Amino acid sequence: MRGWDLLSILDLDPQHILDIVHRARQMSGEPAWPVLVGKNVALLFEKPSLRTKASFHVAVQQLGGYSFYMGPGEVELGAREAVSDVARVLSRYVDCIVARVNSHSSLKELAEYASVPVINALSDWEHPCQTIADLQTIHERKGTLEGLKITYIGDGNNVARSLCLGLASVGANFTIASPPGYRLDEETLEQARQRASAWNTDVTALVDPREALSNADVVYTDVWTSMGQEAEAEARRRDFQGYTVDPDLLSCARWDAIFMHDMPAHYGEEVAPGMLDHPQSVAFDQAENRLHAQKALLEYIIIRDG
Ligand code: CP
Repeated sequence: MRGWDLLSILDLDPQHILDIVHRARQMSGEPAWPVLVGKNVALLFEKPSLRTKASFHVAVQQLGGYSFYMGPGEVELGAREAVSDVARVLSRYVDCIVARVNSHSSLKELAEYASVPVINALSDWEHPCQTIADLQTIHERKGTLEGLKITYIGDGNNVARSLCLGLASVGANFTIASPPGYRLDEETLEQARQRASAWNTDVTALVDPREALSNADVVYTDVWTSMGQEAEAEARRRDFQGYTVDPDLLSCARWDAIFMHDMPAHYGEEVAPGMLDHPQSVAFDQAENRLHAQKALLEYIIIRDG
């Protein structure tokens, strides 16, 4: 059996998401079982990474498997070699391909031609592995996901998209505040509302960050300029004025709200200096949980369904 791909968080039904989150929580507190002995995982990255690369490597190692990394400029998907050929060749060597790509279409093509599962380690469209670790972190801190209000401040980007869809799938309310022109796309909001309808929860897109933060249990932000958008950085810094999460903005949320950032942080832009060390910040636990979430994902994708 080929097993399934994780290109979008929507590839997981709501119960799968919850199962993986609960398994990740379990795995954070116990030694890992060596379920990947004899299994090989390729990490194919077109963009830089700290957390995703390191956590996948360590996750595979803790599960008894072997991983190897091919970084930006090594394979040159679609330039040195056709994506379809890369997929078919790698499938002859490994049991899973973890890919960080410039374009989501490359990921789809990899999955179409690979005979092993393909995991999205970030594309320009989604970051589902980040979302699993985020849900795990929220569940650890709040004891539940159901009925919570998570407010995301900033760009309607790949991280926001997966987070919105993931939270809507598991019974949380999601609100995003973005400047005009940087909203989360309507298709994603509609997909999220469809999943939210099963829970009677809300998916809301606003402009005013203070209004969005009212009664929020979780405050989340991410960079204003994602990888590949560097030419827009100056315009974005101007357009996102007023969207920096600092202690004053955080105080618009509930008194017991947690603050999350998927990192890397750009201090002085989306987040004020020192905010990752704020008493309400869980950013470093969130980063650690990437490791446990990757173990739960790999176990689920390669062992249970593979
Ligand atoms: N959050 C995240 O994906 O970090 P990296 O880009 O360092 O992998």
